[in-house]
Amino acid sequence: MSPVLSLEGLSVSFPTAGGRLRAVHDLSMAVEKGECVALVGESGSGKSTIARLITGLVAAESGAVLLEGQPLSRVPGWRKRIQLIFQDPFGSLNPAHTIHHHIARPLALHRSDISDIDAAVGALLTRTGLSPEYASRRPFELSGGQRQRVAIARALAPAPDVIIADEPTSMLDVSMRMDILRLLKALVEEQGAALVFITHDLAAARFLADRIFVLYAGQVMETSPADALVSDPLHPYTRLLIAAAPRAGETLDAPLPGTPGKPPVIDPPPGCPFAARCPSVTDRCARPVPLYHRNKRQVRCVLLEESS
Ligand SMILES: Nc1ncnc2c1ncn2[C@@H]1O[C@H](COP(=O)(O)OP(=O)(O)OP(=O)(O)O)[C@@H](O)[C@H]1O
Ligand SMILES: [Mg+2]
Repeated sequence: MSPVLSLEGLSVSFPTAGGRLRAVHDLSMAVEKGECVALVGESGSGKSTIARLITGLVAAESGAVLLEGQPLSRVPGWRKRIQLIFQDPFGSLNPAHTIHHHIARPLALHRSDISDIDAAVGALLTRTGLSPEYASRRPFELSGGQRQRVAIARALAPAPDVIIADEPTSMLDVSMRMDILRLLKALVEEQGAALVFITHDLAAARFLADRIFVLYAGQVMETSPADALVSDPLHPYTRLLIAAAPRAGETLDAPLPGTPGKPPVIDPPPGCPFAARCPSVTDRCARPVPLYHRNKRQVRCVLLEESS
């Protein structure tokens, strides 16, 4: 079975006053139907840029995004098949329109198989845990959690193959984050879609995802089945992340302990971007470091070099 979503060597950088800022570098990833993959990393590690690359909001400098093995340019109607859920449910819903409008529009545009749009709006609201009566309300009449449920309903409306959720709960009260994540997981499984879940929160990633990709300075440092990554982290950066954020609900916004300095992203040198902060750094780290394969895991660290 070919993956529903494949990223092949995606890279993008942005011009800044100080030089080119490398946001995402040589990123490859394959996501199967029904699978949930989490992208975890500190602020600025490139997570949202990856979401924008996948959804065509940012053009890649090199590499490709494939849907069922085909480049997006050769997939008619791919936009409805890849849906994005944003962090801020206020910003993503138009205050001038009712909840009905937000969900009916993608149904009308993309679901010619549905004849009774009103009934389908009601059914989607019910599936996301909202009473169909909310259809006549406007976004400002809903709580943050309710708005995010509407955003999920809207993303599900075109029956997408892939849902990208960019920090979908980070603006919500801690008490409702788990409910929303459970809902997202259940609905994506029910629909047989693939989920790319972007988060600062390693505990949330472990809860939701089959596999976790750890990003640093736009590069994958480690990728692994979720449980193995948390119970046996192989990359020094992953180890620091786990030591810094051991409990559910904590985020990775705070600087890592004992590791000052920002990652080199402006005209970066060729070696490991984590070298300056790494407790295990050696001279070898100044040269490019590939991803080393270990069973179902990949680790970009020279510590793995000798044994590979
Ligand atoms: N259009 C742009 N122009 C210039 N720099 C950009 C642009 N978009 C993103 N960047 C930079 O690229 C890097 C990655 O940004 P991105 O938003 O992907 O990070 P992130 O991992 O989503 O962070 P956060 O956790 O804070 O949301 C950052 O240094 C950011 O400032
Ligand atoms: Mg982001």
